[in-house]
Amino acid sequence: MRTPINVAIDGPSGAGKSTMARLLAQQLGFVYVDTGAMYRSIGLYAKRAGIGLEEIEAIVPRLPEITIQLRYTDGVQHIFLNGEDVSEEIRTEIISRYASAVSTLAPVREYLLELQRGLARDHDVIMDGRDIGTVILPHAQVKIFLTASAEERARRRYQELLEKGQAVEYDQVYQDLLARDEKDTSRAAAPLKPAADAVQLNSTAYTLEETLERMKTIIGEKTQNVL
Ligand code: DC
Repeated sequence: MRTPINVAIDGPSGAGKSTMARLLAQQLGFVYVDTGAMYRSIGLYAKRAGIGLEEIEAIVPRLPEITIQLRYTDGVQHIFLNGEDVSEEIRTEIISRYASAVSTLAPVREYLLELQRGLARDHDVIMDGRDIGTVILPHAQVKIFLTASAEERARRRYQELLEKGQAVEYDQVYQDLLARDEKDTSRAAAPLKPAADAVQLNSTAYTLEETLERMKTIIGEKTQNVL
C-alpha cells in the first residue's frame, strides 16, 4: 500500500475551508477531517459540564472523560461526543465561543493532535483547521493556506446566516470575524499562520467553482507522481 496522501488546508474563519475541503474530499475520494468540529465538541462538553468561559481551564482535568469520533454516513461526516451525534448542536454561536476558548489551551491541542495524526496515518485525508500544515501534519504532501479579505469573508458569512433565517447585522458579523481573527492569530498555542511551504490562495475575487478548480490544480501538481 502506498503512503496516504495528506492535504492540509488552513486559513482564517470564513475563508471557505470547510466547504472546499468537503467538496474536494468527495471528488477525490478522500476522508474529510474537520478539526474545528473537534474543538467545538470539546467546547460543548465544557458548556454542558457547567464550566464558564472565564474559567475554561477547568476543562483540562476532564479531558480523559471525553471521547471524540468521526463517522461517515453516505459520505457525510458526523461527529460523536462520547457516542452521541453532536454534529448539529456544535454549530451555534455560543459553541463557537467555547471552541475558540478551549482552542487556546495547550493540553486540549495536545489531546486532539494524536487523534488528528492517527486519521492522517491511516487514510488519504483533506484536513482543515488553523495549524494543520504547521503543527499537525508538517509532512503533508499538499498545504494550502486559503484566505479572502475580511470584508468578503464577512459578506459570505452574513449571506449564509440570512439564508438560514437568522436576524443579523452585517456590521456585527464583520466585527465578530475581526475579533476571531485576532484571537486565532495572537494566541500562544499554535497560532494561525501559513506554513513556510504552503501555497497561498486568496479567493476574494473567485467564485466557489473557481476556487475549487484552483485547489484541485494545486493538489494535482503536488501529487502527480502518486495519485
Ligand atoms: O473552523 P471552526 O470555526 O469550526 O473552528 C472553531 C474554533 O476552533 C475556532 O475558534 C478556531 C479553533 N480551531 C483551532 O484552533 N485549530 C484548528 N485546527 C481548528 C479550529
